[in-house]
Amino acid sequence: MTNFIRNAWYAACWSNELEREPQAKTILGEYLALFRTETGVAAAVEDCCPHRFAPMSLGSVEGENIVCGYHGMQFDCAGVCVDIPGQKNIPGRTKIRAYPVVEKHKLVWVWTGDPKRVDEGLIPDLRWLDNPDWRSVTGTTRYGCNWVLLVDNLLDLTHTTFVHQSTIGTEDVANTPVTSERTGDIVTVTRIMKDTEPSNFYKRVGGFEGKIDRWQKIWLDPPSTVIIDAGGVPAGTNDKYRGIDTRIISILKPVDDSTVDQIWAFARDTCLDDADLDADIEKSIIHTFNEDIEFLAGQQRNMEKRPERKMLNNTADSGVVQARRVIDEWLVADMAPARSDTSAPAPAE
Ligand code: FES
Ligand SMILES: [Fe+2]
Repeated sequence: MTNFIRNAWYAACWSNELEREPQAKTILGEYLALFRTETGVAAAVEDCCPHRFAPMSLGSVEGENIVCGYHGMQFDCAGVCVDIPGQKNIPGRTKIRAYPVVEKHKLVWVWTGDPKRVDEGLIPDLRWLDNPDWRSVTGTTRYGCNWVLLVDNLLDLTHTTFVHQSTIGTEDVANTPVTSERTGDIVTVTRIMKDTEPSNFYKRVGGFEGKIDRWQKIWLDPPSTVIIDAGGVPAGTNDKYRGIDTRIISILKPVDDSTVDQIWAFARDTCLDDADLDADIEKSIIHTFNEDIEFLAGQQRNMEKRPERKMLNNTADSGVVQARRVIDEWLVADMAPARSDTSAPAPAE
C-alpha cells in the first residue's frame, strides 16, 4: 500500500544532527543526500549523481556545493551543475534534483512534492521547541510499519493501559471514554480523567503522591505530525503550579511503505535545569516507544497477509476514524494537479 502525501513538509532530522558531511536519508521511498554548506545552509539533493548514478551521499561539501565522490561533478544547493572536472563547457541542462529545505523549530524540513506548490506556512506549529520556558528531550524511533498505523497508535492512547503499564499507562486510561472533533483538517481527541491514580512516570516527573486530575488532548496536524498535550494536577486543585504540563510531539517521516521514523520531542515547562530528569525522561520515553515496536510491526505483517480485510472500529477509535478520513482527503488532493486550498491548517491551540 503506497499512501504517501508528497506535497508536504517532512522533518528529515534534527538540525543539530546535520553537519557538513552528506547523509543518506530515505523519505517517502525517495533517496536523498542531505548536507550543510560551509555557510551553514541546509540542503538536499537526489542521492543519485546524473553522471553515472553514484550516490551523492558518498561525496563531500565544498563551499556552497556538493561534490560527487566518484568523478567530482559539483552541484549547488539548487541542483545546478557548477563544475565538471576536465571539461570547460557545462551543458545548461546538467542538473540534479534539489529538494526545497527549511530549518524551523530546530528541525530540517524537506518538501517532497512539486516545488511550485512549496508553502512554508504548511510547516506545523511546534512553538514549544523554540520557547525558552520549555525544555525538550528529543530522539528518533523507527517502526516497521506503514506511517498511518503510527498515527492511529498516537491518537488512541487506550493502548497505554495495556502496552505501557510500567511507564505512562494506568487502568483509568482505557476505562475513560474520549471525545473527538474535527476543526478544519485538525482532528483532536480528548480524554479527561478526574481523581485518578498517577502513572509511574507521572509520579517521577510530577512528584505526585496522591490522586490527580489528568488530561490528554491529542491532535493530528496533517499529514503526519501528532501532538499530545498531557498533564495532571493534584486532584480537585486545578493548581497548575503543583502539576505538570507536557507536549509529546511526534513528527512522522514515512521512510517507505512499511517503515516510519518517529522524530519525537518530550517538552515540559517545569524543572528546566534538571539534567537528571532529562535522563530519566529519555530512558522512559525510549522504553515506552520501544514497547510499541513489536505491536506495530505485527499489525503491518497481518495487514499485508490480509489485504482484503477491514479493521474493526471501536468507540475509542472515533478520532482515528476521523484522522484517516482527513488523510484520505489529503491523498486525493495530493494527486490533483493543484490543491485548491494550500493555506496552513489552524493549530488546535
Ligand atoms: S558519477 Fe558522479 S561525477 Fe561521475
Ligand atoms: Fe504507545
